Amino acid sequence: MAIIRTENVTKGFGGLIAVNRVSVDIHPEQLTSIIGPNGAGKSTFFNIITGFFKPDEGRIFFRDEDITGLPIHQIVRKGISRSFQILNIFEESTVWDNVWVAVQGSLGYGKELLGRVEKLAGVEEETSRIIAEMGLEYEGGSQVKYLSYGEKRLLEIALALTTRPKILLLDEPMSGLPADERRRISAYIKQIAQAVTVVVVEHDMDVVMAISDRILVMYEGRILASGTPAEVRQDVRVQEAYLGAMP
Ligand SMILES: Nc1ncnc2c1ncn2[C@@H]1O[C@H](COP(=O)(O)OP(=O)(O)OP(=O)(O)O)[C@@H](O)[C@H]1O
Ligand SMILES: [Mg+2]
Repeated sequence: MAIIRTENVTKGFGGLIAVNRVSVDIHPEQLTSIIGPNGAGKSTFFNIITGFFKPDEGRIFFRDEDITGLPIHQIVRKGISRSFQILNIFEESTVWDNVWVAVQGSLGYGKELLGRVEKLAGVEEETSRIIAEMGLEYEGGSQVKYLSYGEKRLLEIALALTTRPKILLLDEPMSGLPADERRRISAYIKQIAQAVTVVVVEHDMDVVMAISDRILVMYEGRILASGTPAEVRQDVRVQEAYLGAMP
């Protein structure tokens, strides 16, 4: 069963159709990348799946349940998460505190947490696990402002994992990072993809080809092609669409 299935999803802005009758299946065991030139509709499609935009037409299913039009918090609660912008990180706080706050918030304890020692221990354990998974054990006590861009990006992704999603959508997780930090992020994405279905929008073709099981190519709001990295690379329509449009 697909973890996400869309049927004819369409979204326009004024006269422009940003996403045009997109029907795709996202398979839970695959790392899927969505590629395409600037303005192809990739981010808009992510925004529709995660409830930030309502589609003008079409349906979105999560494990065969129709989630079209649900509010964002309900979509998150179903198990669909996305990375947010860097602004959601408290720069003056430590890595540990950032993750801790997100973990306890997403476990839904809120204020009643205080005084419940066993729950507190659960939050600490989960916080440690997430920080270790990022490979930031040594930076746990550091203020976030002292982290590199790549480490902040790791933290951003880790915060999206605190809601314990079944599927995580990452929009350009490598953008603006130098090569060594890109390698670190792509290794982390590969690692988390063992436990969570990951969908990545990314322009870095080397990364996309290396990490993806399946690639969806968007062009002018539509799905132009899909397949394994090798299939997509050889697709003549894809090559034509990218001529002059991609770096
Ligand atoms: N909120 C909005 N209001 C109006 N037009 C929008 C809005 N969001 C996106 N668009 C337009 O919709 C089209 C698709 O944009 P989108 O951001 O989804 O593309 P993208 O594939 O993510 O591109 P990029 O690779 O540059 O991030 C573009 O023409 C864009 O200008
Ligand atoms: Mg985009």
